[in-house]
Amino acid sequence: MCGIIGYVGDRQAAPLLLEGLDKLQYRGYDSAGIAVRDDQKQISVVKTSGKLEVLVAKTDSGRTIRGRCGIGHTRWATHGEPSGVNSHPHVSCDGKVVVVHNGIIENYAEQKEKLKQRGFTFVSATDTEVAANMLAYYYRKNGNDPQKAIAATMLRIKGSFAFGIMFEDYPDIVFAARNDSPLVVGDANDGYLIASDTHAILAYTKKIYYLNNMELAMITRDGVSFLNIDLEPVSKVPSEIAWDSNSSDKGEYDHYMIKEIEEQPKVVQQTLERYIQNGKIDLGISQLNDSHIKGINRIYILGCGSAYHAAQIAKYQIENLTSMSVETEIASEFRYRNIRLEPSSMVIVISQSGETADTLAALRRAKESGVFSLAIVNVQGSAIAREADGVLYTCAGPEISVATTKAYSAQLAVIYLIAIQLAYVKNMISEQKYKSYIGELSELPERIRECIKCSEKIKDLAVAISGSHHAFYIGRGVDCAVAMEGSLKLKEISYIHSEAYAAGELKHGTISLIENGSVVIGIITQRRLAEKTLSNIQEVKSRGAYVIGISNNCLEQMSEVADVMVSIPSTDDFFAPSLAIIPLQLLAYYVCVAKGMDVDKPRNLAKSVTVE
Ligand code: G6P
Repeated sequence: MCGIIGYVGDRQAAPLLLEGLDKLQYRGYDSAGIAVRDDQKQISVVKTSGKLEVLVAKTDSGRTIRGRCGIGHTRWATHGEPSGVNSHPHVSCDGKVVVVHNGIIENYAEQKEKLKQRGFTFVSATDTEVAANMLAYYYRKNGNDPQKAIAATMLRIKGSFAFGIMFEDYPDIVFAARNDSPLVVGDANDGYLIASDTHAILAYTKKIYYLNNMELAMITRDGVSFLNIDLEPVSKVPSEIAWDSNSSDKGEYDHYMIKEIEEQPKVVQQTLERYIQNGKIDLGISQLNDSHIKGINRIYILGCGSAYHAAQIAKYQIENLTSMSVETEIASEFRYRNIRLEPSSMVIVISQSGETADTLAALRRAKESGVFSLAIVNVQGSAIAREADGVLYTCAGPEISVATTKAYSAQLAVIYLIAIQLAYVKNMISEQKYKSYIGELSELPERIRECIKCSEKIKDLAVAISGSHHAFYIGRGVDCAVAMEGSLKLKEISYIHSEAYAAGELKHGTISLIENGSVVIGIITQRRLAEKTLSNIQEVKSRGAYVIGISNNCLEQMSEVADVMVSIPSTDDFFAPSLAIIPLQLLAYYVCVAKGMDVDKPRNLAKSVTVE
């Protein structure tokens, strides 16, 4: 989704803004632009559709636009096609206000009509240009007071926004405001920055202020000040970001995705180490202490995309160990459900970015019911992390590739810890079993490392199936949840249509699509369900499917049925999802490479989906 950056300080702004936009590319975009104010206070705007390189070339890497104050933007089109004129920054028709925006202004049509009647004109199809003209209108109406203009505009907008704003009459100040779209302020040695996420400005500062909903910020070369919507001062203390700025470099790798796949043993280990102390799981840091656990009877787990698939794994694993009732739901559906949550319920939201609009809304919906909310989040200080009652951070570090891999694996690690701890505190597993699980967990990073070694075999397999138009993933129980994630990985980056099914469900419709050569990926890691799934694999095989088997060899006959077998190491079945997913991630990656697609930035997708 759209990315925002702004800077005021000693450096030349344009190269810094372009560097920030480079870091924001991973969020997904189709056009980019910058506005910089020179020493004569003139504002130059350069923007273009297409890749950032076009903007970089157009400005000679920022050298053609001089000035130490500016704003920049990567746009992921919502209102209006990707084009130069629809790109940000947008300038009000009187030239007084320049704006970059992330979010959606739902009442833009109504506001646009009012502004037209007042003589304002428009050149683009965007909702952002409406905001620029609203700001200009309220600026004029409030005696050229920028703060009053911003507050008046914020109060009249329905929807979500993070704004970076420059006023012609106020040189050397960048204004910022937000409601429901992410925005942070960074305190660098030579000035101040605003950005959609910390990752964009990590090279300049680790000292970050978080802007809350309906707050404004003003950055100058020498300081930052914050105001609430009534324009009263708000005091804030900066947080120190733990991430290393180098951790988001691609290094020697061709793509971020393969780098992040290979980082999985490390991030799983770091995540486990954070919550296992002296051979015991300690989740107290998240407020989820033992007495709290004893009072919980029902759990709802919510997320979007891969985070939802992680929720599915959690459902199976918590139910397997505790017999508690667990419901999972896609956050965009849960937020509109008419559901009464009992006080003994707990809601868990899972999100890498901590900013996904639907997951945030689902969290708020759960909080309205007064139940305890727990977030499993990767990005420190993100909206979900700040709003949930408790947080368990995954220690995956910055994840750049749009298709998540390492953050998903770190989420699974946290899920195992929650399931085991719930079972232990509720006396559903013995002390001995508890210890044996923790022992197995300590081996998990090494098992994942072993799985990654199957790369060469997967590479050949990927070439063999890269010409396919469809693929079907099947599994039973928790293997079905793994199949869903494996299927999503393939379709999102290689554009091969793929679907995941509960193995037993295939014959209720989808089996009619199976013909000679159809690719079916069968996952069998759960001993007690293995024979059942094998029967389903035999059903597709006998209809001509080309079967790729992923298994921990819990059933010998599997290798006789499958055309190709990919073996994963043995572990307790409980932890098998963390291993079975590795060859599926690698398969998606190498198919994408074989097809020559853009691995890290697949078309139409955004890393962080901050609009509904
Ligand atoms: C996007 C990403 C997915 C991610 C989903 C949820 O669709 O491309 O990889 O799983 O959003 O994101 P979150 O940050 O909430 O985990």
